[in-house]
Amino acid sequence: MDDFRPLPSRELHADFLEKVVQLLFKTVVFTTRQDKVILWRSPEDLEKQFDFEVRQNGESQEKLLQLLKDTVKYSVKTGHPYFINQLFSGLDPYGLAAQWLTDALNASVYTYEVAPVFTLMEQHIINEVCKMIGPQWSDGIFCPGGSFANGCALNLARFHRYPEIKKKGNKSAPPLAIFASDECHYSIFKFSALLGLGEDNVVTLKANDVGQIIPEDLERKISECIEEGMVPLMVIATMGTTVRGAFDPVNEISVICRKYNMWLHIDAAWGGGLLFSPKYRSKLNGIENADSIVINPHKLLAVPQQCSMLLVKDKKILHECHSRGAEYLFQKDKYYDATYDVGDRYLQCGRKCDVFKFWFMWKAKGAGGFASHIDVLMDLAAYFESQVSLRPEFALVSERQYMNVCFWFLPRYLRSRPNIADYHAQLQKVAPQIKAVMVNHGSVMLNYQPLKSLPNFFRFVSQNSSLTTRDVDFILDHIVEIGNSLFK
Ligand SMILES: Cc1ncc(COP(=O)(O)O)c(C=O)c1O
Repeated sequence: MDDFRPLPSRELHADFLEKVVQLLFKTVVFTTRQDKVILWRSPEDLEKQFDFEVRQNGESQEKLLQLLKDTVKYSVKTGHPYFINQLFSGLDPYGLAAQWLTDALNASVYTYEVAPVFTLMEQHIINEVCKMIGPQWSDGIFCPGGSFANGCALNLARFHRYPEIKKKGNKSAPPLAIFASDECHYSIFKFSALLGLGEDNVVTLKANDVGQIIPEDLERKISECIEEGMVPLMVIATMGTTVRGAFDPVNEISVICRKYNMWLHIDAAWGGGLLFSPKYRSKLNGIENADSIVINPHKLLAVPQQCSMLLVKDKKILHECHSRGAEYLFQKDKYYDATYDVGDRYLQCGRKCDVFKFWFMWKAKGAGGFASHIDVLMDLAAYFESQVSLRPEFALVSERQYMNVCFWFLPRYLRSRPNIADYHAQLQKVAPQIKAVMVNHGSVMLNYQPLKSLPNFFRFVSQNSSLTTRDVDFILDHIVEIGNSLFK
């Protein structure tokens, strides 16, 4: 096929691309509750049923369309209302339109000349979100996900205390300790390892019954580290923990950070979207006391993946810590004001344009639309929790603080009998087996996990504000039906 040039031509590609859009309309965009969330195949079966092999010669457009169909067929429909598996879900029509546009433009946001609209747009959105946090805030960057943003925050905290580390490396700093709850996101450990801080130097604090850091415990652990000759570098507080949706007491933590001259990073990847809700904004009280904050609009606000922001208080630090001044991009004799070239404040070089879908959704709905979205989701979570509490088949893991409702399905023989031998071991088996049946049906995808000594439990958490109380009833009834048939 003489079709190798990266340039669409009307004769060769218009019909093909139109068919692709039709296919997406038919099979992805307008899914209904009657469609399956997933057509599950084991890896072995999928290997047999899907044409993964790449060849010397290209395929016909007809075959390519078939491959697209197959890709959709066997992929998870994360926009389906019953995809409740992760901290992202839904398929926002305006976010999707925006994502299509940025993919067509294939922009890379490092210099003003390559991305003039998106460069200014980023600055506008960063300013707006900073204003929602507090008057001292005005700077930030977009990141490829909350994990990476957390990693950048670790690096900034270390650079802030020991700036010479940028040139001289870790040997120019003493052993450093990082403090986070034992329910913090695992990216803290991964990036501590990557940065040479060391996983073992993340001091994990035992969270209380609902998953929050206990400030007295934090201060005790800091003192112990100092006695052992380590420098306490930073605390990572979470606003909206991954599993239980807990909010650490950031006001008290910030007082401790000031006392010990420590950086306070707030991982609000999941909870930070509450900035948009006048009704629930108070859950973020104290967030302004941080030195850095991560917010993922791709979680609570249902912006398509990925859209993550790292905000900082110190206006100079991003440039000082990250810049390298590559002259092929950031020439000193630019034909325009080069301060608009934001790229050197980033760790990446080429960078996808994640701001556009957030900006476009904000334009489409207004901040009020995001607020309504959040309020609906909070009401839904409250309804879910009330149903779990009312129904004898279920037990709550801990009191809900946010959107996360963590619960067990209890087989009849375990109800009201927590003292029987091997209760934990029995309960551990329940959620995975129910989930396997749901996925095989393709009906619902709902996450489960153990947490520390707690055996496997389900976590209901949706970012899809099209869900209704009838959906909640359906999901709970479905679990009961499967649970009762599996565990007699
Ligand atoms: C609290 C928290 N922080 C960070 C992350 C990581 O975000 P991402 O998946 O965008 O890397 C998550 C992901 O679920 C999270 O729950």
